[in-house]
Amino acid sequence: MEVPKKIIILGVTSSISIYKACEIIREFQKEGLDVHVVMTKNASRLISPRLFSTLSGNEVLLDLFEETGSPSISHITLTQGADLLLVAPATANIIGKFVSGVADDALSTVYMAADCPVVVAPAMNERMYLHRSTYKNIQRLKSAGVKFIEPDKGYLACGDEGLGRLASPREIVKKCLKFINKATSLNHKCVLVTAGPTREFFDPVRFISSRSSGKMGFELAEEALRRGAEVILISGPSHITPHRGIKLIKVQTAKEMRTEVMRSFDQADIVMMAAAVSDFTFNTKAKQKIKKRELSKNIKLGRTQDILAELGRKKGNKILIGFAAETEDLKKNALEKVKEKNLDFIVANDVSKTDIGFDSDENKVCIYYKSGKSVLTDKKSKLEISQIILDEIEDIIGEKSG
Ligand code: CTP
Repeated sequence: MEVPKKIIILGVTSSISIYKACEIIREFQKEGLDVHVVMTKNASRLISPRLFSTLSGNEVLLDLFEETGSPSISHITLTQGADLLLVAPATANIIGKFVSGVADDALSTVYMAADCPVVVAPAMNERMYLHRSTYKNIQRLKSAGVKFIEPDKGYLACGDEGLGRLASPREIVKKCLKFINKATSLNHKCVLVTAGPTREFFDPVRFISSRSSGKMGFELAEEALRRGAEVILISGPSHITPHRGIKLIKVQTAKEMRTEVMRSFDQADIVMMAAAVSDFTFNTKAKQKIKKRELSKNIKLGRTQDILAELGRKKGNKILIGFAAETEDLKKNALEKVKEKNLDFIVANDVSKTDIGFDSDENKVCIYYKSGKSVLTDKKSKLEISQIILDEIEDIIGEKSG
């Protein structure tokens, strides 16, 4: 049976380096991929769409409102089967549109409709590239999971020397092929992630909880989804809205989280317990609000069940990852937890530092394995940390299967 060709959507914008897009099409074709070009109006003032349709063998999408005679909606149909959207060359303008959600032409609309990985290869004058607006926009897109292929240094169209030349077509295609492979690296795996805090109520109004925004767990869930996994996210209260491809189960208490984790455990291949599950709960919950003068006689703290330790006892062949937020003796405490809870590894971070961890978009973690092996990261975005964690998990899968 013939394997269907992978489909690339190549977005082309009006940078002088637009001619390199022709070579990008050829390089993809040499690798056996099918390329569909989407152009901005300004790009079509530099190169005729006919050149791209001839080279790619596919119609070019330029005008969303053109009469095609087809009842289907072109930008939606195009994105449905795509394996990757590459924008090369990408101007500062299209990057700005992607960030702000403006969808006023074919390419920005395709970006909004795309479910596949998105790669952007910018090309512009150095001053524009280093402008703080461009820098901020790139950071924001990166934190939304868009990959960037940095431009090279060299001779620019405006006559300046500097940073801003489109990366070489070969380099761009090589990186895109890697991203496509990554997008399927967890295909047929079910990943269960927990996130956020739990709340333990002692009356209808008050509760105790742990500090946690849920960001780390949500990033892990989204990264697993980008790698092709089926993802179940069980989360305590959090303001984050996950990608629509993730099955979100909302819980409040540690007991509810345990019930939901146990319900999904059998189908999971990989479990990451990133939730800050409360260790304490109240023995009774008052039906009415407790009056302050009666507080002491009504409140008795008890322990919750340790969900992760319970999973460790029935782990089998599953990959089980824990998290440890520590304020002292990081290594010692983390290693104890790896052993006690029968984990593949634990992701530990020092929460006494105020610039990372809680509520922050950044973190610095150390991954400890049972064997004593450890992987220390620099301070990085939680998205990048999630990529490191999932790379480690993929290594474990590789070792198990090979
Ligand atoms: N955990 C859990 N159930 C609990 C408490 C914690 O599943 N009732 C999980 C967390 O999701 C985390 C790991 O266990 O992945 C470690 O949690 P942490 O609070 O750091 O450690 P504890 O085992 O609770 O120990 P201590 O509070 O004494 O540090």
